[in-house]
Amino acid sequence: MWKGDALEVLRRVPDGSLSFLYLLHPDPWPKARHAKRRMVNDGPVDLFAAKLKPGGEFRLATDDPTYLNWALMVMQRERHLRQFEWLAKTPKDFLEPSGGWIETRYGAKSRREGRRPYYLRYRRIA
Ligand SMILES: C[S@@+](CC[C@H](N)C(=O)[O-])C[C@H]1O[C@@H](n2cnc3c(N)ncnc32)[C@H](O)[C@@H]1O
Repeated sequence: MWKGDALEVLRRVPDGSLSFLYLLHPDPWPKARHAKRRMVNDGPVDLFAAKLKPGGEFRLATDDPTYLNWALMVMQRERHLRQFEWLAKTPKDFLEPSGGWIETRYGAKSRREGRRPYYLRYRRIA
């Protein structure tokens, strides 16, 4: 299997061209001193915003409550509130998958082991 940096691939994608961008169970980097390595951070999120079409969706699945809190915090920063709208009105919206999600190998293993995934959907604001 090809192993490369997904961000390098994404940089080559034309701006404003994606309808959906999925980040499924990113590495949690649980230690606070490694938080800068998490995929949800200002630089990558700016890149996601650049590549999505207006109205396109950035979707994040994680079973890690620390990562969930981290992602919610990053996405509430002023710069990202200008880029994205969180599409959750009730807890059900992030506790249950809506249409279009796929279950990855990690997601299936996590479910078998009794953890619960969280599903965050953010719409790119025009
Ligand atoms: C917890 S695993 C989840 C794998 C898969 N997405 C799934 O849900 O089954 C996290 C994966 O992200 C990969 N990864 C971390 N940073 C990456 C990057 N910058 N580009 C591509 N893959 C990356 C790791 O190698 C690891 O395989």
